Amino acid sequence: MIPLRFPMKIAGQPTRTIRFAPDRPDLVQVIDQRQLPHRLVWQDLNDLATAAWAIEAMVVRGAPLIGATAAMGLFLAALEVRSQSNFREAIEASAQRLLQTRPTAVNLHWAIARQLACLADCPSGAIAVDQLRTGAVQILEDDVRQCAQIGEHGAPLIEAIHARTGRPVNILTHCNAGWLACVDWGTATAPIYHAFDRGIPLHVWVDETRPRNQGAKLTAWELGQHGVPHTLIPDNAGGHLMQHGRVDLVMVGSDRTTRNGDVANKIGTYLKALAANDNQVPFYVALPSPTIDWTLRDGLREIPIEQRSDREVKYMDGRTESGAIVEVLICPESSPAANYGFDVTPARLVTGLITERGICAASEAGLRSRFPEQF
Ligand code: MRU
Repeated sequence: MIPLRFPMKIAGQPTRTIRFAPDRPDLVQVIDQRQLPHRLVWQDLNDLATAAWAIEAMVVRGAPLIGATAAMGLFLAALEVRSQSNFREAIEASAQRLLQTRPTAVNLHWAIARQLACLADCPSGAIAVDQLRTGAVQILEDDVRQCAQIGEHGAPLIEAIHARTGRPVNILTHCNAGWLACVDWGTATAPIYHAFDRGIPLHVWVDETRPRNQGAKLTAWELGQHGVPHTLIPDNAGGHLMQHGRVDLVMVGSDRTTRNGDVANKIGTYLKALAANDNQVPFYVALPSPTIDWTLRDGLREIPIEQRSDREVKYMDGRTESGAIVEVLICPESSPAANYGFDVTPARLVTGLITERGICAASEAGLRSRFPEQF
C-alpha cells in the first residue's frame, strides 16, 4: 500500500488542484488554469452553475480533474436543493447539465455515475448533501492514490533506460497529463516525478500543444515548480528529435481508452505515436481506470471528439514585457479555422498502458489481465 502524501508543491507549499476553501466546508476552490503560468489564482465554485462553467470554460481541464470537479459540482447542487421535496430529480437534472460540459473525457461520466449511485436510497436532501460530499472526497482521494500507483509502476521503465544507457533519460510528453490535470501527481508525469524523486537523471521534452498550449503553459510550469529539467518544443519537433536518438520514451495521458486499448488524447498525440513507431521509441500511455470506457471497442469510430471554437486557433494569449496579458490574432481574420480537441491513437501504436494495477499491453487481453472483473 502506497502511503498517501501531498507530493506536488507550488513554491514549496503542498498543493492540490481542487480543495475545500479553508474553514468553508460548503465552498470548493480550484486553480484557474487559464491564468497559468503568469498568475496563480484560486477560483471559487459555490454552486452547480459555476462548477459546470469551470469545466466548460477550461478553468479546470484534464480528464481526472474534470471528473473530480463534476463530483464536487453534484455536492454543490445538493446544497442548493436540499430543502426541496424533489431534491433527487433536481440533482439528476444537475448531472445532465454537467454531462454536457465536455464530450471526450469519460472520467466525467464515471464520476457522475458514481455520485448518482450514492443517491439510490437517500431519504432526504440533507443526507444527500452528506453522501455527495463524502463521495466527492473519496473520488479525489482515489485519484491521488491511483496516480501515485501509476508513478510506482511507471518509474522502473525510466530507471531501466538509465541503467542501460548510463545517461539522463529523455522523455517526450504531449499536452498536460500532469498534476494540474488530476488532483495530485498526474498520470504521464507520475512516473517522471517518482523517478526524479529517486534521483534518476532525466529530462522532459514538453510539446507546446497548440492551440491552447497546455504543454507550454501548464506542463512546463509544473515541472519547473518541482525542479524537473525540461525543454519546451514546438509540436512538430518530436519526430526530428526521435530520428536523432534524442527521445528514449514517450509518455502521455488519455481522456478515454477503449477496452481494446485505443487511446483518445489531446490532438497531435497520434502523430507522436506514428513518429515513435517509425523510430522504435517506446510509446506509453498512463491512465487511471476511470479513464477506461469499458463499453467501447473501436476508438476511432466510437469515441466522441470535441470540437471547440475557431477562436482558440486564430488567437494566442501571452504576457507582454510590461506584464499585461494580451490576446493577439495570428492569422488573416477572415480565414476559417478547425479546432479538433482530441485524436485517437490505435492500440497497435501503443507499447503499453500504465495503470494503477500495473503495466499491460494495449489490448483486450492486456486489460483483462489487470481488470478481470470488467470482462
Ligand atoms: O483539453 P484538455 O486540456 O482537458 O485535454 C487534456 C488531455 O488531453 C490530457 O492529456 C488528458 O486529459 C490526460 S490527463 C491526466
